[in-house]
Amino acid sequence: MQDQKTSLPNAERYTITAALPYTNGPIHIGHLAGVYIPADIYARYLRLNNKDVAFVCGSDEHGVPITLKAKKEGITPQEVVDKYHAIIKRSFEDFGITFDNYSRTSAKIHHDTASDFFKNLYDKGKFIEEVSAQLYDDEAKQFLADRFVIGTCPKCGNEESYGDQCENCGTSHNATDLINPRSAITGNIPTLKETKHWYLPLNEYENWLKEWIVEGHKNDWKTNVLGQVKSWTNDGLKPRAVTRDLDWGIPVPLEGAEGKVLYVWFDAPIGYISSTKEWAERVGKDWEPYWKDRNTKLIHFIGKDNIVFHCIIFPSMLKADGNYILPENVPANEFLNLEGDKISTSKNWAVWLHEYLEEFKDKQDVLRYVLTANAPETKDNDFMWKDFQARNNNELVAIFGNFINRVVVLTNKYYNGLVPMAGELSEVDQNTLNKLKEYPQIISDSIERYRFREALAELMNLARLGNKYLADEEPWKQIKTDPERVNTIMNIALQIAAGLSILSEPFLPFTSSKLKSILKNVELVSECDWNDLATIPAGHQIGKPELLFAKIEDAEIQLQIDKLEATKEGNKEEIVEPQKETIGFDDFTKLDIRIGTILEAVKVPKTKKLLQLKVDVGIDTRTIVSGIAESFKPEDIIGQKVSVLVNLAPRTLRGVESQGMILMANTPDGKLTFVEPENDTVSNGGQIS
Ligand code: MF3
Ligand code: ZN
Repeated sequence: MQDQKTSLPNAERYTITAALPYTNGPIHIGHLAGVYIPADIYARYLRLNNKDVAFVCGSDEHGVPITLKAKKEGITPQEVVDKYHAIIKRSFEDFGITFDNYSRTSAKIHHDTASDFFKNLYDKGKFIEEVSAQLYDDEAKQFLADRFVIGTCPKCGNEESYGDQCENCGTSHNATDLINPRSAITGNIPTLKETKHWYLPLNEYENWLKEWIVEGHKNDWKTNVLGQVKSWTNDGLKPRAVTRDLDWGIPVPLEGAEGKVLYVWFDAPIGYISSTKEWAERVGKDWEPYWKDRNTKLIHFIGKDNIVFHCIIFPSMLKADGNYILPENVPANEFLNLEGDKISTSKNWAVWLHEYLEEFKDKQDVLRYVLTANAPETKDNDFMWKDFQARNNNELVAIFGNFINRVVVLTNKYYNGLVPMAGELSEVDQNTLNKLKEYPQIISDSIERYRFREALAELMNLARLGNKYLADEEPWKQIKTDPERVNTIMNIALQIAAGLSILSEPFLPFTSSKLKSILKNVELVSECDWNDLATIPAGHQIGKPELLFAKIEDAEIQLQIDKLEATKEGNKEEIVEPQKETIGFDDFTKLDIRIGTILEAVKVPKTKKLLQLKVDVGIDTRTIVSGIAESFKPEDIIGQKVSVLVNLAPRTLRGVESQGMILMANTPDGKLTFVEPENDTVSNGGQIS
């Protein structure tokens, strides 16, 4: 994607990483809000401040979710990742996420880097090698690690926890810790089978982690991050396997490790390093200072489900190696929900970025704005389409857009677009200019504390300052009585517009460049300096008015709400039982189903479900045992017409021989109902064909 400008020789160096997205589906607003927009704001901000930045990311292409997806779609894992890597990469470009490099973990450079990293720790004796019993699916003939196994979380009791992590409480565990595990492939209860793996003894890093993070960063890391780290370290860390018995991943680079691959959470974060290498090679730089120079600041942008991996496991890996720097901060965000429900790829409960752009063409900044203004920085938050519309119409259009439009229209109207010279400044003018000069620092302070919502609110306050200034000074009235004064007013308003064009860049990059081009100030485009905002000189020619934002109508929003509603309905329908395997007509003709009448009914003693029936099926009267006692009382069904499978081999149930089967249908409330002819025209023995 974008290569940065050559940086100054002594600029501070930053390595900024954004979580590598799993390549098993496209990306949605939750990804953007939680990780990629904050990371991009930060990277853009640093570049505007002339820092030396490597902003890296890439596709996370290994791991069980990808294998599962491939199985589901009947294609290979490589085909899955090729498809989604392209879609994801495109979405990032479309939304102006300025990665210096976007790589992928199936790339050779990554396989090499991750293999070497493992080999190096192995050679240094940093792993424990251990044969142990692991969960195994006899039918699928495969070990069940990570997402291949589902069971009850030992910590919170969530019955749908994965083998490696519980999505409910965030705890990370070993698959064998699960209570009542079952295979995600066959649903079978796993057996245990011995296998050899390599473990990183996290317990040996526990004290160091406590000192470094819990003590050392207690004042500058986010409370949600510190809270999770404390909870894990207090519970006591255990050795963690970094290899798996799987066929999709990076082969374990050791003799005798055939059929084993690196654990996806071992290889993926190393992806940050390989992406940096790939970038450095391409632009002719040395990658090592970005990962090994103590003066480099390493920042990981992630969502809260990734905290353990970025605060405990990856740092322990880096520490074990000994040559790497550690993260300066890990500003993890909480989750974004959609209209009150958790975003879900499998339920299609999401706003997909590629779909958004089809419907809201050129409105990337509107989404960037809303997702930042409403970012889940300290708690889970909701994305609501009505809020999206309101923020666009009442904030972007009515405040930011309106101010710029007034300035550009009036400058064109009064001066044919030539910037007027300011005269003597009133107290209000001076105060307004002073305030303008404070904004870079105000916004910086928020950004540097990873408070992007607050930073964006301040940017809007600058636009409000401009609006208020114009509303108070009323140039449109004064132009008739005091045109001299209006020169000054418009000059100051234009300085605010210029300031907005620079300070909006990290948040609203498309708008910022459009505004710069309207103001046609070369200085703004090339040499803009964040802290010492460029001024627009008197006599400079600006361009014609162009709208920065357009109102979003109710109908456009209703369309989106309807679409989600339809998804909800669709999900409900999907609950129907899966269809059984196809059979031939011959199979069907084997069934002899006849109409009969129940003559007698009694409960089978000591059972809850069974009734013993005497049924007249036309050809004879026979005994049938039926599991319908929970839905019907014996006395209520005497005389009931029924359909009976009469050629079913007799079976003995609780000592009673059953000579056939009554056909029943399930009702939506979980009860049973008889399958019976509509009227009495069919007599007993009538065949169903
Ligand atoms: N793929 C993971 C997820 O989507 C994130 C991987 S981050 C990395 O949750 F550090 F491993 F790269
Ligand atoms: Zn749990």
